[in-house]
Amino acid sequence: MPHLDDTALESSSVVANCAMNRERTLKNYVRELGIDVLAEAGDGRWLDLCCGTGRALTEAAAANPRLEITGVDLVDHFVPAPDSLRLVTASVAAWTQDAPADLITCVHGLHYVGDKLGVLARAASWLTEDGLLVANFDTRSVRLEDGSPAGRRLTAALREAGFTYDPRRHRISRRGNRKIDLPYSYIGANDQAGPNYTGQPAVDSHYHHTRPDHPLRLEPQPPAQV
Ligand SMILES: C[S@@+](CC[C@H](N)C(=O)[O-])C[C@H]1O[C@@H](n2cnc3c(N)ncnc32)[C@H](O)[C@@H]1O
Repeated sequence: MPHLDDTALESSSVVANCAMNRERTLKNYVRELGIDVLAEAGDGRWLDLCCGTGRALTEAAAANPRLEITGVDLVDHFVPAPDSLRLVTASVAAWTQDAPADLITCVHGLHYVGDKLGVLARAASWLTEDGLLVANFDTRSVRLEDGSPAGRRLTAALREAGFTYDPRRHRISRRGNRKIDLPYSYIGANDQAGPNYTGQPAVDSHYHHTRPDHPLRLEPQPPAQV
């Protein structure tokens, strides 16, 4: 099982896959994220990680020219952008946001990123006090050294850190700025993991669990219906 570093991962054919959909519209974003993007961002700042061509962002910029929008993607196949929209060619593994954002999104981008938990933690620290982070995310793509899924310990750690995970929709979210320290240290990525729930080949991310003795706190289960 390969444990690729970011340089190897970012030149992998899975990440450079031209069959992936990079052209979602704003309407598609609303559906994929389950939020009203324009209402959440207001007249503030919206950062979209792994933005693809930036099509959804240009539509948002046209709908609200007061909104300050930044899109970041590894590949610079961007659509022409108006002044209020900044499209940056960079890896989200290296990107840092210089001003707090009211909305941070990542639509089907984390599937191709190495240190997914690192990106989620850093993005949470870039939010405004009541800003919203929402991303498509599959916890099954987070694996331990031996390849086993990080499982319930991961979902418990994410919940303790204030994230909400919807396993049915494969969506993670968090409201409000917070410095997050998840008990996982990143080892490397596996670009041979095969298709994930989207049907596209995706990347597994391997971690060392740094607090294996930490008690597993599970949500209380509702009483069984009889
Ligand atoms: C499935 S596409 C989604 C694009 C866009 N969010 C959309 O829905 O139209 C995934 C995008 O993630 C980008 N990507 C993958 N790894 C990345 C990384 N490390 N940093 C930035 N972008 C990355 C790819 O170049 C691709 O454009």
